[in-house]
Amino acid sequence: MGSVTYDNIAELVTNDPTQGDESFLGLRHDAAVVVDDGVVAWIGEAGQASPTDERVDLEGRCVLPAFVDSHTHLVFDGDRAEEFAARMAGQPYAAGGIRTTVAATRAASAEALLASATKRLTEARSQGTGLVEIKSGYGLDVATEVKMLQVAQQLTDETTFLGAHVVPTEFADDHRGYVDLVTGDMLDACAPYAKWIDVFVEDGAFDAEAAREILLAGQAKGLGLRVHANQLRPGPGVQLACDLGAASADHCTHLTDGDVAALADSGTVASLVPGADFSTRSPVYPDGRRLWDAGAAVALATDCNPGTSYTTSMPFVIALAVRECHLTPSEAVWAATSGAARSLRRDDAGRIAVDDPAALTVDPAALTVVDAKTHVHLAYRPAVPLAQVLGEPAP
Ligand code: NIG
Ligand code: FE
Repeated sequence: MGSVTYDNIAELVTNDPTQGDESFLGLRHDAAVVVDDGVVAWIGEAGQASPTDERVDLEGRCVLPAFVDSHTHLVFDGDRAEEFAARMAGQPYAAGGIRTTVAATRAASAEALLASATKRLTEARSQGTGLVEIKSGYGLDVATEVKMLQVAQQLTDETTFLGAHVVPTEFADDHRGYVDLVTGDMLDACAPYAKWIDVFVEDGAFDAEAAREILLAGQAKGLGLRVHANQLRPGPGVQLACDLGAASADHCTHLTDGDVAALADSGTVASLVPGADFSTRSPVYPDGRRLWDAGAAVALATDCNPGTSYTTSMPFVIALAVRECHLTPSEAVWAATSGAARSLRRDDAGRIAVDDPAALTVDPAALTVVDAKTHVHLAYRPAVPLAQVLGEPAP
């Protein structure tokens, strides 16, 4: 692999206050980074690195840890453009739309699913994303849930079993039977391919009691916990996630003061996915400001899926989080990198550091370059393709 110096970085975001200034972004100005055999080996002043095999002049751009997209549904088949258009014409969003994608995903081959998910992942990387989480949940039968996770596993280590996305049509009159399947044969078949288990806690999906049972069954199989919580209305999802010590409560659009306090007092990360609020034309967005000020750890993710958030763009999510969730540009960048890595309990992503084996990232997708002199441009110049993983072809 050899050694390479990335030189003339106007602003380096390390997310480690000990590596830069004392801000939470750990900023360094006029910097250089040496990557040796895929490991960050040195951080210092521009022009001061010892000679390396290669030198890349970044000409005053900004470098940050690659975005971590900690909530995606990248594996699916079918298209719901008509549903989106109807929504923009006034129809409300309902969780049941998921079943449209289930029919298409059941019918698709693993090869076709891998090809389309790979295309979406390439799209994400060309916008600066280095690590993704991918959920199942558009199978809702044993064979298709396994098929989705086997495909997802070819693209990431961060795979999530979401058999409890909604109750499929064939179990419409037997919700109990579906919970038994999810916690029984489906979990047995899926657990070998998953690191996490997730449940959609919502009217029209799963109530708190069923969700607790499903999450505990997954935990007993060694899976970490994540929860789709408080997306469409206030509900028990966030409290359940915090009670069970879940790594992440995702959406968090409708929170009570008690929910905010529970997140602030727990190790559960509040993962905001404002792309979903945008595409469902939600009247409210998650209140990132309130969460951050209360001391909760905040993450940002795309929730890329064909129903409620068909975007792979973390810069778009950052811009939305600044405009609509009232995070500052710096907070939003932290949430899209360090916060999201924390929601996956990953020490080796979301920051750039030397002399710390856990942060010595070996994935070439560890660093993202922004074609601007500061990270603020990610929100300041929305929809402009400024960010890409270092070494990726231009978008
Ligand atoms: O995260 N909230 C549940 N799941 C997805 C929606 C999926 C769909 O509508 O297809 C979400 O927004
Ligand atoms: Fe989701």
